[in-house]
Amino acid sequence: MLTEEDCVTPLNPQQATSDPGTEKSGGSGVVTDVLIPHAPGAWPLVGHVPSLIRNPLRFVTSLAAHGDVVRLRLGPLPVYALTHPALVHQVLVEDARDYARGRIFEKAGPFLGEGLLASSGTEHRRQRRLLQPAFHRDRISASIPVLRQAAERTSASWRPGQTVAVDRAMNELSLTMLTKTLFTADAGARAAAQIERALPVLATGLITRTLMPEWWTKLPTPANRRFDRSVHDMGTAIDEAVRAYRAQGRDHGDVLSMLLSARDQDGEALTDHQIRDQLVGFGLAGVETTGASLAWLFHELGRHPEIEQRLHTELDTALGDRPPRYEDLPALQYTGRVITETLRLHALWMVMRRTRTSVQLADTTLPAGAEILYSAYALHRDPRFFPDPERFDPDRWLPERARRIPKGAFIPFSAGAHKCIGDSLAFTEMTIALAVICRRWRLRPTPGVRVREVARGDVHPNRLPMVAEPRTDRSSMEATGHGGV
Ligand code: HEM
Repeated sequence: MLTEEDCVTPLNPQQATSDPGTEKSGGSGVVTDVLIPHAPGAWPLVGHVPSLIRNPLRFVTSLAAHGDVVRLRLGPLPVYALTHPALVHQVLVEDARDYARGRIFEKAGPFLGEGLLASSGTEHRRQRRLLQPAFHRDRISASIPVLRQAAERTSASWRPGQTVAVDRAMNELSLTMLTKTLFTADAGARAAAQIERALPVLATGLITRTLMPEWWTKLPTPANRRFDRSVHDMGTAIDEAVRAYRAQGRDHGDVLSMLLSARDQDGEALTDHQIRDQLVGFGLAGVETTGASLAWLFHELGRHPEIEQRLHTELDTALGDRPPRYEDLPALQYTGRVITETLRLHALWMVMRRTRTSVQLADTTLPAGAEILYSAYALHRDPRFFPDPERFDPDRWLPERARRIPKGAFIPFSAGAHKCIGDSLAFTEMTIALAVICRRWRLRPTPGVRVREVARGDVHPNRLPMVAEPRTDRSSMEATGHGGV
């Protein structure tokens, strides 16, 4: 339940709105007898879909002005947006059992099957227990050499003065880092390539499918056909990798080997089909998210040379000329704050849940089956919880300042039962990428290029050309793009 300590700002006692609407029970038989503010700008029939397609970031950040719970419509479907961290915390953590995954992952059913990303409740808890060891710190620590090699290869491919498409380079780096963690053996190479090809199509398709009605997904449009083909090709390539690993019968020390040997408390193993579903889920959840975060990291460093300088000083002092190791990570405090601040400003813009039963949220009662939405992007930019929210300020994560941030206000990886299982892996990937790349390069913004945010599954830069400038302040380093890890 809500406590003073949880919220810097109390919930709105009376949800004021310019366009109020009164909720009365529908077929589900549950009544809410309070005024739930409606988000303005609904269109006949389609509701808020045009706003969510045209400018989703502006739309989700505008909602807090209308109340702590705001009602919007996807076509005829009502969706309740939560704009207060205490309510988000209640849904994700305190009353988590009253909520299942919502519409987004339901739409992913055809390709996520019954993997972790698509499951809820008891089945989710069973899978989570089974998969957690794959993301244990020992496993992450063991994957540092492949992460480092991937970052070193990226860094070594640049030449002084070259304009690098940092958005693409970071997405590729993230893909390589994740797929090398999933499959180290050659048998996984084709699966990795298919995941790379499929991901952009799936990420776009998923959001469109969330917003559009069911019949629309059945139309033989080029986009729908591309979506179905991508699902098929990626699934087939992963199936081949799983069969090849089983035939080899060796532990390659990667996530796929771990999935093949995992047993639940009844001694049951995962079937090939279930393993494929997990790998597809890891690809969908772990590549573009980390890739976009890495791109934004370099974008922010390019815009803030004084922050970049502090980061370089910390990395140089802690590491000297040697490559980063897992044991170095705790000492890289400022680096951690820079990454955390990037995750604040560039978070996912929409996560959904669905009520399993009738629930009480603040002074609102919602029926079973109600769709709930929250936006980490909007919460992270709410001036009630983050003063001067647009400012990139890593020191807001100094312990004495961070303590003032209420629960539920900073949730880049979500919270509770469905909290990102790959959060430590993602943080480690970003730290290693920074440490390796910043040893040689400063990435400078290209003059005259305006970088815009594009909201797909994640929020990524529309383009990010940056000039690779060798670091002249490190005389011992060659900036020629050569050197070992
Ligand atoms: C910066 C990078 C990342 C961000 C911002 C991020 C964010 C998130 C968020 C917000 C959720 C919760 C979704 C929900 O509540 O419905 C989630 C779940 C998940 N993420 Fe991540 N993620 C990142 C990287 C990764 C990586 C590298 C993996 C690797 C496997 C991964 C795998 C997953 C999985 C499997 C889930 C579902 C967890 C569950 O339901 O138990 N993520 N992620």
